[in-house]
Amino acid sequence: MRFPGLGEVLFFATAEGARDILTAPSAQCRAPLPNPIEPVVGPNSLILLSGEAHRRARSVLTPPFRGELMRHYVDLIAEAACDQIATLGPGDRLLVGEAAQNITLDVVIRVVFGVTDRARRSEYSRVTTQLLRSGSAMLMLVPWLRRDVAGRGPWARLVAFRAQLDRLLSEQIDERRGSGEHGSDVLGLILDATDDEGNVLGDDVLRDQLRTMLAAGHETSSTSLAWALHHIHRDDGIRVRVIDELASAATPADIATLPYLGAVIQETLRVHPTVPIVLRRLTAPLTVAGVACSAGDVVGIALPALHFNPDIWTDPTAFNPERFLGPKPSPFQYAPFGGGYRRCIGATFAHSELAVSIGTIMKTLDLRSHEQGKPPRAVPRGIATKPSREIALEVIARR
Ligand code: HEM
Repeated sequence: MRFPGLGEVLFFATAEGARDILTAPSAQCRAPLPNPIEPVVGPNSLILLSGEAHRRARSVLTPPFRGELMRHYVDLIAEAACDQIATLGPGDRLLVGEAAQNITLDVVIRVVFGVTDRARRSEYSRVTTQLLRSGSAMLMLVPWLRRDVAGRGPWARLVAFRAQLDRLLSEQIDERRGSGEHGSDVLGLILDATDDEGNVLGDDVLRDQLRTMLAAGHETSSTSLAWALHHIHRDDGIRVRVIDELASAATPADIATLPYLGAVIQETLRVHPTVPIVLRRLTAPLTVAGVACSAGDVVGIALPALHFNPDIWTDPTAFNPERFLGPKPSPFQYAPFGGGYRRCIGATFAHSELAVSIGTIMKTLDLRSHEQGKPPRAVPRGIATKPSREIALEVIARR
């Protein structure tokens, strides 16, 4: 396929192709540039770096997302979900896409940026929403549109919102540094971290990485949450089984480890891999699934095609969480978070976020779908693919 800015990309959809791409060493690949996300994240973003600079940045940014630290975050995630549904009662409708957007944005603001004060959180929410909306697909894909026309136009708006968010982030960073107590949220852990040469992140780099986590971690989790709630409420068998399992979970930390709910999330990400392509630009020749590729070529995994490949999956079009309760697929058959040296740093976090958000909503509200007819399609939105229309669930009762 031809891609704006990248030229021809050679896609693979077999486990063999995925294995050859995901195990290619970092010395043999670069991040394919230009990346449409660049205006939002900035030049120091982990997503745009390659080689040694990428390795060093990952060594600072991955530790806050280690599995054992999730216990610091799950209560904040549950609070974000509770706040979002606090006023809903019988007869009301839960608009799934809108609720998912609000919850996952609130989670980034509380857990990654470490903002606790309510008024400040709404200020962050306003500015981040405007920034993410201003990065329209056209502006992201066509670099020559990135021009300021006498202080007006879409580019000027994006730059202004980014500057507003940076002012908020700078205040937050200065406050944390000034207090001497960095805290146990992601910002706090990054402020404490040093790379293997003992350097802490400079403020410019830190702000670019915080905006990266916003851009990479908000829309992706939000669309996955919307799809998961959609599938759970489309099938009464799945809904009832999730509710039964939730009865055994007393705390958000318990919810995060429930096996059936975990399988529902994995199946959601199989059917709707919200980041549908994983790309590498080769800097040396590489044979991918028997195809000789040259230095300079861009190769990719088409995740929807891999995840529906009938040689790998039985009855691939069926939504069936059970398939994840048995033997695990290999990381080359199932790769919603990519893999290898660039695997998503937020994968474990996203899984906990989805489980705790779904669990908190379903423990609080008894919901039903009245959807009939064709299910929504997946359509591109920002860096993720989301449902083509809003999904509404009716609130039957508060539990
Ligand atoms: C369901 C939610 C999510 C999905 C489906 C997802 C998916 C992905 C995928 C496919 C990649 C590319 C990996 C590769 O090239 O091999 C990626 C990279 C990345 N993700 Fe996620 N992601 C999610 C949530 C998050 C969250 C919550 C964060 C952080 C808070 C995050 C941060 C990142 C970063 C920083 C990268 C770039 C890694 C690098 O280039 O080294 N993601 N993600």
